[in-house]
Amino acid sequence: MAELRPAEILLSEAQIQKRVAEMALEIRKDYPDDLHVIAVLKGAFIFLSDLARHMPGHVSLDFMAVSSYAKGTTSSGEVKMVKDLDTALDGRNVVIVEDIVDTGLTLTYLQEILRKRHPKSLRTACLLSKPSRRKVEVTVDYIGFTIEDRFVVGYGLDFDEQYRNLPHIAVIQP
Ligand code: IMP
Repeated sequence: MAELRPAEILLSEAQIQKRVAEMALEIRKDYPDDLHVIAVLKGAFIFLSDLARHMPGHVSLDFMAVSSYAKGTTSSGEVKMVKDLDTALDGRNVVIVEDIVDTGLTLTYLQEILRKRHPKSLRTACLLSKPSRRKVEVTVDYIGFTIEDRFVVGYGLDFDEQYRNLPHIAVIQP
């Protein structure tokens, strides 16, 4: 068991649900026809499932997995692909769905490799952004909430593989 515990609720379930519904409609408005949504596992799995259900019409989905955090709350700075996509991106309108942009290293890596697969367009949606932690400049087209430099769990986000199932987002504290 981890020694840290989620303490303060930063974003309630209602706040998250309202914002995710808004983001889904915003993305769909920009891409009313072809839309291919890629979720980055594992952190984005709950965000994707809510986002996709709020999108009217047909959208196709795919998943990829990268590892950027070895263990705990410290970034290793290394990004490695663990699971690749199942389908090609040529000529598609692609939106990457990620849980949080922190240093920006993971998204920079993903955007670079996906751009080489010739999508018609490539955009990124993140539920959370911690701008004060950025190490590289990265474009995020849709941001749910901008937060301060605090380690958060819940709604897909983990600490040492725990707390992903919380319906809200909480700050973790010693
Ligand atoms: P980046 O490459 O530093 O931008 O980190 C992105 C990844 O780090 C995210 O997809 C998360 O898996 C993880 N991460 C960054 N901050 C947090 C946090 O506060 N809680 C949980 N995971 C985080």
